[in-house]
Amino acid sequence: MPRILSPSFLSADFLQLGAAARMIDQSRAEWFHLDIMDGRFVPNITFGPPVVKALRRTTEKILDVHLMIEQPERYISDFKAAGADYLTVHVEASVHLHRTLQAIHDAGMRAGVALNPHTPVCAVEEVAALADLVLVMSVNPGFGGQQFIASSLEKVSRMKDLLIRKNSTALIEVDGGVNTENAASLFAAGADVLVAGQAVFGAADPVAAIQQLLEA
Ligand code: DX5
Ligand code: ZN
Repeated sequence: MPRILSPSFLSADFLQLGAAARMIDQSRAEWFHLDIMDGRFVPNITFGPPVVKALRRTTEKILDVHLMIEQPERYISDFKAAGADYLTVHVEASVHLHRTLQAIHDAGMRAGVALNPHTPVCAVEEVAALADLVLVMSVNPGFGGQQFIASSLEKVSRMKDLLIRKNSTALIEVDGGVNTENAASLFAAGADVLVAGQAVFGAADPVAAIQQLLEA
């Protein structure tokens, strides 16, 4: 399976967003991870469709939008218009998750499902065939720079088993506390896409950090 890195712009300098985007665009990272928070589903508030739209103008790489908002179905068309490629919603935030995933497809995007650390793998059982991506949160969502929850590694293996059993082609993405210490074992456990915020933007040489994570 190809390894994909999705640097999280939450850890970028927001005054230098254009420079950060150009740097990632020229790096080996194939995706841009964009964390949308509403101050309700998670305690933090970040940015919305206008920022996604601005980044869309700077890159042709995949825009991987992670919605940490309540009732995410309200904003599907806005993020499509902004240029999102993958739109990921939380299992815990969408009452009619199956319908939400269909609506994301109908809008012309790839649909992702995210699970908080406390949410069991089986929560995606009935939507595995519909999902293009399953995002295993390895920290409690809301902030960058948190410590990786060690039990997430084994959760990734169990998610891989579930997807195989369900004949699902969904990619597995891991988000939170990813670094050069745990990247290799996450890829080995079945992760296809690793999100990295601090490990990239907190590094002295972010482009080299991306390479190290991909070759870990
Ligand atoms: C956390 C976000 C993450 C975060 C990752 O709620 O979903 O994408 O930015 O940042 P690091 O890699 O620093 O944990
Ligand atoms: Zn995220």
